[in-house]
Amino acid sequence: MNKIFVWTRKFSISTSQNAIKTVTVIGGGLMGSGIAQVTAQAGQNVTIVDLEPEILNKAQKSIQANLGRVAKKLYKDDPGKIEGFVKESLDRIKISTKVEDSVNADLMVEAMVEKLDIKQDLFNKLDKLAPEHTILATNTSSISVNAIGSGIKRKDKFGGLHFFNPVPVMRLLEVIKSDHISEDTYQAMMEWGKSVGKTCITCKDTPGFVVNRILAPYSAEALRMYERGDASAEDIDTAMRLGAGYPMGPLELADYTGLDLKKSILAVMLKETGNPVFEPIGVLDKLVKEGKYGRKTGEGIYKYNK
Ligand code: 3HC
Repeated sequence: MNKIFVWTRKFSISTSQNAIKTVTVIGGGLMGSGIAQVTAQAGQNVTIVDLEPEILNKAQKSIQANLGRVAKKLYKDDPGKIEGFVKESLDRIKISTKVEDSVNADLMVEAMVEKLDIKQDLFNKLDKLAPEHTILATNTSSISVNAIGSGIKRKDKFGGLHFFNPVPVMRLLEVIKSDHISEDTYQAMMEWGKSVGKTCITCKDTPGFVVNRILAPYSAEALRMYERGDASAEDIDTAMRLGAGYPMGPLELADYTGLDLKKSILAVMLKETGNPVFEPIGVLDKLVKEGKYGRKTGEGIYKYNK
């Protein structure tokens, strides 16, 4: 049996058993649009909320393009189905600039900027507006999930769902157990993760969870090596691709996920752990200050054609 067929069968089996059928994603950036895409692909209705109509338009365009890539792979032996798959998935995605109008969901996933106060304000608002049964989750990369939910009443229906970029391709989902999460909520989050095609792992609410706790020092060492001029950016990346078998080198990966995000992850990790490996890195601070965030702005460590 071909791998994709098995994967899609698993998809539909777990979806049918899953209590979560409607999802709202808050934040229409790279991560938010990826989360919305995998949700729609799995046959669930999803609304993307963002204050900026332009970001929502961009999200729709990139989802359409990425659905095309997924469909091409999924239906390589039956290309006649590609168009239908893309259209049906897109039809399940709504967009909105008003969170108040989008709270009728079984699950709301926040994928906004990595700022604790902004996330707290949002969850305090959602806690008041969303139906009682709605599960609230954050896709934070490194901020404490407990701190983000500290002001809400439904602490039993709150946790972390940490996806990886590019969301449609990366198979992992970290399900973060906040201190007061109920077993039902945790199980529903695990089931939902499986229903959107992810392999779920369980993590405690520790700084960086599993992946970023390991990845952040690795990136920091690569950035410092580049800053010192020990080797060129290209050679550092080639070394880790060919010498360690990573699909991307650490510097191209930092550009890919965003240097602004990398800087905020390192700052949180330093605050939480005190480990000097997370101390500020001059070259990273300089690039972020100049607005050079990596691929999304056209320049970071490397330059890109927009
Ligand atoms: N949507 C759908 N499909 C996509 C896609 C997307 N956004 N991006 C890539 N693909 C598909 C392509 O269509 C292609 O499919 P094919 O094999 O059938 O042709 C396949 O993925 C490979 O893509 P490309 O040929 O364009 O390029 P690469 O082979 O170089 O792969 C990559 C690109 C998948 C990004 C790969 O380089 C990779 O896995 N890089 C590492 C990514 C990683 O480590 N992510 C985690 C970062 S940490 C994080 O996100 C946490 C956060 O908190 C910071």
